[in-house]
Amino acid sequence: MSSNKTVHYLTDYRAPDFAVAQIDLTFDIEAAHTTVKSRLVLKPQTAGAPCVLDGSAELVNIKLDGETLPESAYTLAEERLTIARVPNDTFVLDITTRLYPAQNKSLMGLYESNGNLYTQCEPEGFRKISYYFDRPDVMAKFTTTIRADKKRHPVLLSNGNLIDSGSLDKGRHWVKWRDPFAKPAYLFALVAGDLALSKDQFTTASGKAVALHFYTSAADKPKTGFAIESLKHAMRWDETRFGLEYDLDIYMVVAVGDFNMGAMENKGLNIFNTKYVLANSATATDADFEGIEAVIGHEYFHNWTGNRVTCRDWFQLSLKEGLTVFRDQEFSGDRASRAVRRIHNVRMLRSHQFPEDAGPTAHPVRPASYEEMNNFYTMTVYEKGAEVVRMYHTLLGEDGFQQGMKLYFKRHDGQAVTCDDFRAAMAEANGINLDQFALWYSQAGTPHIQASGSLDSAAHTFTLTLQQSLAPTPDMADKQPMLIPVKIGLLNHAGEAVRFKISADGDWQSEAVLLLQQASQAFTLFGVAEVVVPSLLRGFSAPVQLDYPYSDTELALLLAHDSDEFARWDAAQTLYRRAVAANVAALQAGQPLPQHSELAEAVGHALNQNLDPAYKAMLLQVPSEAELWEGQQHINPQHYVDAREALLTSVAGGCLPVLNRWRSWAYAQEEASGHAQPYEYHPDMAAVRSFLNAIRVWVLYANPAMLAYVRQQYDKLARNMTHEWGMLAAINHQPHDDRNQLLAHFARRHGGDALVMDKYFSLIGSSLRADTPQQVQAALAHPAFSLENPNKVRALLGAFTRNMRHFHAGDGSGYAFVADHIITIDAFNPQVAARLVQAFSLLARLEPQRQALMRAQLQRIRAQAALSTDSSEMVDKILAQPQTASMQIVISDK
Ligand code: TRP
Ligand code: ZN
Repeated sequence: MSSNKTVHYLTDYRAPDFAVAQIDLTFDIEAAHTTVKSRLVLKPQTAGAPCVLDGSAELVNIKLDGETLPESAYTLAEERLTIARVPNDTFVLDITTRLYPAQNKSLMGLYESNGNLYTQCEPEGFRKISYYFDRPDVMAKFTTTIRADKKRHPVLLSNGNLIDSGSLDKGRHWVKWRDPFAKPAYLFALVAGDLALSKDQFTTASGKAVALHFYTSAADKPKTGFAIESLKHAMRWDETRFGLEYDLDIYMVVAVGDFNMGAMENKGLNIFNTKYVLANSATATDADFEGIEAVIGHEYFHNWTGNRVTCRDWFQLSLKEGLTVFRDQEFSGDRASRAVRRIHNVRMLRSHQFPEDAGPTAHPVRPASYEEMNNFYTMTVYEKGAEVVRMYHTLLGEDGFQQGMKLYFKRHDGQAVTCDDFRAAMAEANGINLDQFALWYSQAGTPHIQASGSLDSAAHTFTLTLQQSLAPTPDMADKQPMLIPVKIGLLNHAGEAVRFKISADGDWQSEAVLLLQQASQAFTLFGVAEVVVPSLLRGFSAPVQLDYPYSDTELALLLAHDSDEFARWDAAQTLYRRAVAANVAALQAGQPLPQHSELAEAVGHALNQNLDPAYKAMLLQVPSEAELWEGQQHINPQHYVDAREALLTSVAGGCLPVLNRWRSWAYAQEEASGHAQPYEYHPDMAAVRSFLNAIRVWVLYANPAMLAYVRQQYDKLARNMTHEWGMLAAINHQPHDDRNQLLAHFARRHGGDALVMDKYFSLIGSSLRADTPQQVQAALAHPAFSLENPNKVRALLGAFTRNMRHFHAGDGSGYAFVADHIITIDAFNPQVAARLVQAFSLLARLEPQRQALMRAQLQRIRAQAALSTDSSEMVDKILAQPQTASMQIVISDK
């Protein structure tokens, strides 16, 4: 068990001791290994400082100003090469390392996939390639020479522009790339292999032609069209909305099937998980298309927010990620269905980020410490980080926000900076003080707002009192009140907007952003002469939980009439949450379940209104289990699954006629749009299909006999993956053998398509059927499955960890099964293993029996001799949670 931890602290930051004037890399790729030569021109910045380079690759040779260094002149320990004495003036290091990419299963550094070579350097992968200052504030101009066999590696790519190339003897060739922009090592990339090229072009606003090159396997080449179109949309959008143009002559995207995350923004040479590049409507769902557009946008937007202006240190990760997620969300929202996309993002935040904020790995948007940086690519840094950027936008408006962005680039282009620098640019460009706003970067946890309202019918005022609180997190006990923008409106009992003034002599308005700054604050709205229902946190104006003592009738009123689409949807969410809570209480008391007929009526009523079908699909989404047990302790996940299922059954049953009517309507829309012709992604039809798929799920809850009907439609609609997936997902929990037959048929039909097989494995892993553990076990042996492929692990095992019935099986078998695989995977891919460990974060909030079973498995993982720092950091944080009080009582009772 490794126990000497190295923890990195934000407060320990020191500027680098050396500047890199130039870095020239030469990769000699041979069959069994690759030799890397790195020539560094270094300028000491601190007199007398030793030269400390990060690295873990096999060191072959190191020269200083042309002289080989004797072993006595340096030390090599704990991924560090230290040369105690170096010249005071500019000097040159020549470092030779040897790599074995075929053996590298971590997918960090240089690795082989399908016979091709790829790199992944963010955050600290460059040190697996060569010895260097592997930190983002050391920026240098890179040239990269690659030599390889022409047949095996006809395509040789790196960052920047291709400046030279030629032939060598023995069937080898070479290329030389130069990146004119100084960059940190994490943005370095190299690709070598046999890849097919899809070409396009983009002309920037100022008239510069940019070549767009997409590389895939030859077989995947026909599936690149949508991603290329998405890139062009993203490039144009960044020009029109942010005034930002692309800066190189070429933009390359390479798709690879073995990849730890979604994609990587390497300068001029993005490397993408195939999942976010390849699509046609027979193999990708509408949601997949939307994911591609968002991720293509995300990586492209990084060229300015991440590459041109990068992070000073990894604590500042959200500087680039939160901002770039905000930008990709805005891009998607401007493309189509803004309200639906906003709701989608809030659902993600609530079901994944809020639990993170409430659990053992809670950390602020700018973490104060880390052990393994790979563990900090989190929902908090990305998604809450984006919400923090969105709050600047809410506070400053589009114009003020863009002024802030302009100042940010003017000051910091070409630099490595901090979240404080970004905040300063926003504040100073708008002449406002944002000091209190800094707390959003330093305090973990989801703020809670308790709201209450009172009408003074004589004075014609409505007073809204907002009280904020922030619970302690493992990293911090006492918190300070934050600056929270709360957007509000008022409705009367007919559902009409009620106008108000925010000061006695102010202007009439129907919406306001209240700035909550104190622990408790009362806001008086003037000119309110009738009884009102407040519409709160409109647009989800801050990443908080807000409670207001609404009656169910008031929530139904908001659901029927609120002009703010988020608040309207959220009224339904609150109704669902209350209804599931009532079911949980009944289940625990052994009482009959309530029928929820008023809720069914309210939902049916909303479905019959004139709304975007994609929005109606969102209205049919019941909060996930993770949202439902928000704030709860002693959780028995089984009760939540059962209560949620029971709710769906009763509410779907209660509005079945409405559902049937809209099901027919959606089919008619499909017919009219001509599903006889080849399908293409289109937001309007995607909206109809998402509604239809949501209806299918509900209808099957109301009437399982519909299964036969779904089977009938299957053959007609299965040519479109959104339909096919929708049907399979709807019947995936059915105990009936039809489900198995359809899945087997699906696997046979798509057995050769790795991305579609991911869908198959995720259906297996997420099924609530009783035999899921056996089916998951069998899937592990499927020829298309591999533990070495992160997409497969996420599909099967990741889905299983979110399978509340089977992961949380009462006998602990689900925990043991996942722990076994964490141990196996950790030995070769710590990053992926550590992600799976997160599934155990619920530990301290579980009921005592499961808590003990889960704890035992975490201890078993922790006892592995060679456990990675990635996994041990996660396990230790989870195990550090105190056992709940009642757990100790239960144990002492025995
Ligand atoms: N910077 C990448 C993005 O958000 C993600 C990333 C970070 C990544 N570390 C990685 C991707 C490791 C793959 C592997 O766009
Ligand atoms: Zn990113």
